[in-house]
Amino acid sequence: MPGTHPLRVALLGCGVVGTEVARGILANPIDLAARVGAPVELAGIAVRSLDAERDPAIPRELLTTDAETLVDGADVVVEVMGGIEPARTLILRALERGAAVVTANKALLAAGGPELFEAADAAGVDLLYEAAVAGAIPIVRPIRESLAGDHVRRILGIVNGTTNFVLDKMATEGVELDQAVKEAQQLGYAEADPTADVDGYDAAAKAAILASLAFHTRVALADVAREGIRAVTADDVEWAKRTGHVIKLLAVAEVLGPVDDGEISVRVHPALVPADHPLASVRGAFNAVFVEADGAGPLMFYGQGAGGRPTASAVLGDVVSAARRRLTGGKGLRESKDQRFPVLPPEAAVTRFQVRLAIADRPGVLAQVATVLADHGVSIDTVRQTSSHTHSGEGETGAATLVITTHAAREASLAATVDAVARLEPVRQIISVLRVEGA
Ligand code: NDP
Ligand code: HSE
Repeated sequence: MPGTHPLRVALLGCGVVGTEVARGILANPIDLAARVGAPVELAGIAVRSLDAERDPAIPRELLTTDAETLVDGADVVVEVMGGIEPARTLILRALERGAAVVTANKALLAAGGPELFEAADAAGVDLLYEAAVAGAIPIVRPIRESLAGDHVRRILGIVNGTTNFVLDKMATEGVELDQAVKEAQQLGYAEADPTADVDGYDAAAKAAILASLAFHTRVALADVAREGIRAVTADDVEWAKRTGHVIKLLAVAEVLGPVDDGEISVRVHPALVPADHPLASVRGAFNAVFVEADGAGPLMFYGQGAGGRPTASAVLGDVVSAARRRLTGGKGLRESKDQRFPVLPPEAAVTRFQVRLAIADRPGVLAQVATVLADHGVSIDTVRQTSSHTHSGEGETGAATLVITTHAAREASLAATVDAVARLEPVRQIISVLRVEGA
């Protein structure tokens, strides 16, 4: 392409993802130029420390601590530094100066997406973020573009690799959560402080992004009901297996009621998934997103949700897309923002539940428990009782575990039901209450 002006890419961050993005741009200039239609030049890489050890493929002369100047001279700015500031200010600066922006920063998008999308819209430039949800898996573009003419009803996603690794380890090796988390840290999946993963913050940010895209609305991180996996025990995982399920940390986004006038529920929590559901077979640190749309029916997207090269694959796809549009003078893709679905509070979410309780094993106890559920309008789907002692005296034959699976019920009704059941004299303990999804 002799004489074609090169497109200048500013890279903000040279960590796990940034290093692989830089390698991708530097290693394949001819391929990249052919795909874009013009040469792509890596103009510079902003970092915190110029002295830190780097991959030998990163030319030292490209590194700078002056991110502002780098942004000001760029056609496309790639933000892979993470965190809220200075990423937010640098992205706004880039957009205001007319540069396209590619980011992998789910935390920033979930916390302050509307401000960024409005700035991109006002400037008529792209703000692309395929890598922000489920790493390498193409899921943002399929929902944003391929399904734009359909109605998405529901999304169930395994969008955090660390927690999927931990739950899978617990299921296959019977270990407790702490031990599995330690292993995830040793393997580099979990952060040194794994709170964002284990407590569901990372998945909640991704759920907010997916729900905003799928329902053409704006869902903020604060709208997402969040519960992590900290309370899941090896015993829960074992019982899940016995009842034909696996436990997964799910991001759930769904419309309740009519697609054009309904309410949406967006939540992250551990859930029992039937062993024959496609999401049940997602092992280790892999991610998957299961989408149900009116026309398309069920769709499943599967792959690596984290790691330098997989994530850089998604970032580089966005770089090519933004660079192509820039070359042809096209305006950036705008976000849909036409629908304003009310987001339901957590207690109004509707789902199925499995309640496991320890009871005195004597006549009439099951009937007592069933009556409490009926009184609260919670309908029972299945009941399974397992005696743990054979005999402990006349009239009372020991203890038993009762596993009740309900039909769909509101969270608030279920919570009131569980409180009432716990107060029954023969009920020794509510061992666990888990939601059931995908059945
Ligand atoms: P790292 O912590 O590995 O890298 C961050 C980079 O940004 C470092 O090079 C750091 O510089 C630089 N940086 C941080 N703050 C500043 C600052 N104030 N000024 C200049 N440079 C700065 O992060 P990751 O590569 O893991 O993640 C990057 C982004 O990608 C995050 O938003 C993350 O959520 C997202 N993401 C990450 C995935 C993964 O698997 N790692 C998967 C999907 C998304 P220095 O090297 O000098 O410290
Ligand atoms: N900590 C995240 C995970 C990284 O475990 O999935 C990718 O967003």
